[in-house]
Amino acid sequence: MEKKKIYIFDTTLRDGEQVPGCKLNTKEKVKIAKQLEYLGVDVIEAGFPTSSPGDYQSVQEICKSISNPIICALSRAVEKDIKIAGSALKYAKRSRIHTGIGTSDCHILYKFNSTPEKIIERAIQAVKYAKKFVEDVEFYAEDAGRTKNDFLAKVCEAVIKYGATVINIPDTTGYCLPEEYGKKIRYIKENVKGIHNITLSTHCHNDLGLATANSLSGIINGAQQVECTINGIGERAGNTSLEEIVMIIKQNSRLNFFTNIKTKLIFSTSHLVSECTGMKVQSNKAIVGINAFSHSSGIHQDGVIKKRETYESINPEDVGINNHTSIVLTARSGRAALSYRYKKLGFFLNKNSLELVYSIFLKYADKKKDISDKELRILLEKANLNNNRLQHMRRINLKHV
Ligand code: KIV
Ligand code: ZN
Repeated sequence: MEKKKIYIFDTTLRDGEQVPGCKLNTKEKVKIAKQLEYLGVDVIEAGFPTSSPGDYQSVQEICKSISNPIICALSRAVEKDIKIAGSALKYAKRSRIHTGIGTSDCHILYKFNSTPEKIIERAIQAVKYAKKFVEDVEFYAEDAGRTKNDFLAKVCEAVIKYGATVINIPDTTGYCLPEEYGKKIRYIKENVKGIHNITLSTHCHNDLGLATANSLSGIINGAQQVECTINGIGERAGNTSLEEIVMIIKQNSRLNFFTNIKTKLIFSTSHLVSECTGMKVQSNKAIVGINAFSHSSGIHQDGVIKKRETYESINPEDVGINNHTSIVLTARSGRAALSYRYKKLGFFLNKNSLELVYSIFLKYADKKKDISDKELRILLEKANLNNNRLQHMRRINLKHV
């Protein structure tokens, strides 16, 4: 069976940038947008132009600098927003307006003090108006995760009738369980007239740590586009992380999906976004955390040294981390790891020397979090392995290692 393409809609520069304290200036936004283009994303959501003159300018500059991905600008279902979004997108080679409105009871009642009928009317008007500026109009049903499926289907059908080309089903508050979100997508797929002529999109938030699982469930149930951010940054607990969904698709050929992402650029892109936003990546973050390919327990280290695949299901080189399966030395490490790290430093320890250094190492490691290369050299001195012997070890190392 032919593999199905999953479109990657990156919203690092819009939803990602909504994180308190990670405001990006135009230069940084353009730099990240260029990196996203190299990475191979299909759509870049560049910003929310009506929100500030700076964001308007950023969207405009991104449009001038980017050739391949579609450039998307966010708006509310408000004419002024849509007009400004249309204007900011003027220089884009391929442009999209992303407009929408809250559809859950909670949003209709408390945010808009409105009725379901009036919300459908506003949704239609927004799409009709956006079509005056661009051909490609994406509609988001905000808080779709908590919207009743029959009403959601009604809204989707209405906006498709008036020209929406993409329908986004955001789980705005990270409320859904994967099965529930998948069922929602399937319901829309099976009950909305015209749905097969448009692209159905997931947009999941991570309030319960389920954003990636929900997006995956969405594409398994028929969505063709995933909205996500680099390092999973975004409002509150963040959005679906691009690197996670892309690598899930790559690692699991049985899913029969593919993306256009050049996965070897994932690590450098993660680094760039972290540097520009000032948002550190948590050490144990899947795919891009510094511990994602580090091993510290003796059993794991021994396995990885014998064959990397014993404790790594992803090849770090696939995400652009070269020669970096890292053997971290802690009090849980074994002789194999210690010997491996000394070899990397140019020292070959025979059985007796290793035994001696290992006993000193363990005492030292019990008091420390991890042991650096500098400390490994000091341990050799402590083991009283005299210089002649060290020279000898180095020579052996040059010949055999
Ligand atoms: O989470 C959300 O609902 C959004 C929409 C504005 C698309 O970010
Ligand atoms: Zn969002």
